[in-house]
Amino acid sequence: MYTLPSASAERLRGWLETINTYNDTPEFGTTRVLFTPTEVAARAYVKREMEVVGLAVHEDAIGNIFGVLEGTEPALAPVWTGSHIDTVLNAGMFDGMAGVVAGMEAARLIRASGIAHRRSLCVIVFTSEEPTRFGLCCLGSRTMAGHMTEEDTKALRDQDGKTLHEVLRELGYHPAELQQIVRRKGDVYASVELHIEQSASLERSGKSVGIVRGICAPTCFNVTVTGEQSHAGGTSMADRMDAFTAASEISLLLEELGRTAHESEYTTATVGHVEVIPNASNAIPGKVKFSIDIRDCSLASKDSLIEKLKAGIRAIELKRGVRIELELQNHDTPIMCDSNIVSTIAQSCEALEIDPLPTISGAYHDSLFVGEFAPIGMIFVPSKNGISHSPEEWTEYSDIARGTDVLAQTLLTLANQ
Ligand code: GLV
Ligand code: MN
Ligand code: MN
Repeated sequence: MYTLPSASAERLRGWLETINTYNDTPEFGTTRVLFTPTEVAARAYVKREMEVVGLAVHEDAIGNIFGVLEGTEPALAPVWTGSHIDTVLNAGMFDGMAGVVAGMEAARLIRASGIAHRRSLCVIVFTSEEPTRFGLCCLGSRTMAGHMTEEDTKALRDQDGKTLHEVLRELGYHPAELQQIVRRKGDVYASVELHIEQSASLERSGKSVGIVRGICAPTCFNVTVTGEQSHAGGTSMADRMDAFTAASEISLLLEELGRTAHESEYTTATVGHVEVIPNASNAIPGKVKFSIDIRDCSLASKDSLIEKLKAGIRAIELKRGVRIELELQNHDTPIMCDSNIVSTIAQSCEALEIDPLPTISGAYHDSLFVGEFAPIGMIFVPSKNGISHSPEEWTEYSDIARGTDVLAQTLLTLANQ
């Protein structure tokens, strides 16, 4: 193991607090949505800070930011670290950002130590890990894994009807060149992402570092239920076709399936976004649009739940006389972390006298897609009360610093393999 300086909790706090000033909802949590002026300004800040740390910065065709600390043998496949700086609506200040600043601090520590590393180290800000603007998650890493083409960027629209393709072009990115950023196996030697846990297992076990063994993957649907809009008082209970009560029944079925119809303990099922039309207290809803998010660490278990859900939805459609359309948004594959990286993280913990917790990530991360072309690992740091995607999200800066020490050791070890 290497003797590296310790990560500075104060420096990490400074970066995180400054990134958090780029926020469209300072009155209630943090909102920083992909390619809004606020997010673009935050990107500029992170790029400047990467340069201050001594990294050579560039962006690719979809806006993934790379800060490179060149190795002594730069032709070798590099080692990656990083995360994201976009957020869900009314989020916290750590989900994603902790991994970006930890990567920058790890690179700073390695550079300051003067210890040579053969492979280059890249600190990455992945474009839009969250699906907030275009309804699809992990746009940057998904593209690098070969799952998003220029045509796909023309089909993805935000709430105002603007396509991702238009937005990319307006900002000077190059959607016509997405194919050129697709990575092949062997292009990246290893990738390690630090992230807040977003669950309470670290806190419950009293441990400060988690070593992730596998990442659950999402399947997402957009559902439209069409009933008949009509008068709340004039339409008898027998005559109505209420899109909202049908949608409610689907939500309850989904919850029940998430609780019971699976072989894996990591199944989750969520309706998170709902639009009721016309959304008036005295009208029977004629249309409801909502999201379904199903996660699992086992693809087979997820597939079997989806089959049961589809059968249940057809039964609700027949029973209630409404029309239900299911549009598949994404069906992603869970992944296991690489054993060499998992043991390198464990050795780093041992050298730093940290007793880590082996764990599984219920949340997805860009590592899910990076794992399709590179060996991956993840380091978790605790989330207070297990809360995330909320203004209540909190992680102690000292815990991020501890995780960053583990990250720096791990990156340096991998960069010299
Ligand atoms: C990512 O933020 C997720 O929803 O898991
Ligand atoms: Mn998130
Ligand atoms: Mn995240």
